[in-house]
Amino acid sequence: MDPNGDSSPIPTETQKRSFAPSTVSAYLDPHYWDERFSDEEHYEWLKDYSHFSHLIQPHLQPNYSVLEIGCGNSQLSEELYKGGITEITCIDLSAIAVEKMQKRLLSKGYKEIKVLEADMLDLPFSNECFDVVIEKGTMDVLFVDSGDPWNPLPETVNKAMATLQGVHRVLKPDGVFISISFGQPHFRRPLFEAPDFTWSFEWSTFGDGFHYFFYLLKKGRRTSNGGGPSQRIEMPSMSLFQDELESEDYIFRTNIDEM
Ligand SMILES: C[S@@+](CC[C@H](N)C(=O)[O-])C[C@H]1O[C@@H](n2cnc3c(N)ncnc32)[C@H](O)[C@@H]1O
Repeated sequence: MDPNGDSSPIPTETQKRSFAPSTVSAYLDPHYWDERFSDEEHYEWLKDYSHFSHLIQPHLQPNYSVLEIGCGNSQLSEELYKGGITEITCIDLSAIAVEKMQKRLLSKGYKEIKVLEADMLDLPFSNECFDVVIEKGTMDVLFVDSGDPWNPLPETVNKAMATLQGVHRVLKPDGVFISISFGQPHFRRPLFEAPDFTWSFEWSTFGDGFHYFFYLLKKGRRTSNGGGPSQRIEMPSMSLFQDELESEDYIFRTNIDEM
């Protein structure tokens, strides 16, 4: 059983590690995700909904249309649905993830949740059609092999900007983008605050020990002052980083300061 009381099979530590690729660049390869999702039934990257629902809920209303990008085999959409949001669209680049998610949601009776195969770099939606766009760990994939995190490779920046431009385009004029990420604010802020965007920028953290980052971007609300918590960012120590992440098969460390 997982912490939410769901009976979906959760991989054991050994099983989780067996999905880890031999090189970080594999996370950028759609075949890696297809192979992984063929065998893996449920895995929550970063944390499950119970850890950050208090941060999301103030920005949701039952009549809102929500887009989740890079759903994988996460239960985030189910949790949102159980919370009263019925107009949910999930996308993923992996056809296997999409097929399995469609089957899982149908078997649980969540027929209204749409699941589509689509690339976040080229979102197949019309302008201004979602109230909220959410991603959890999906944009982090773009940064796994990005070189110096202070000065990412142009290819990485181009992909991240294409994603953000698409998200900004499909959001309604007062829509909100929520990005849940390993990437620290000093690495993400230059992208989120590019001149292309009208959204405001706020962030907070959640998690015990290791802090995950919760970014909130409100379209049409940009001000000259950037947002963020008043307290100093507590950087994770490397031991916390190892403890927390080694069971996640995660190698997104390009976004973590080496201490
Ligand atoms: C780190 S996993 C996160 C999965 C899920 N959001 C979660 O929190 O458990 C990254 C997901 O992004 C998907 N993905 C990678 N590149 C993508 C792209 N260009 N467009 C859409 N999805 C993508 C992968 O197939 C995978 O499901």
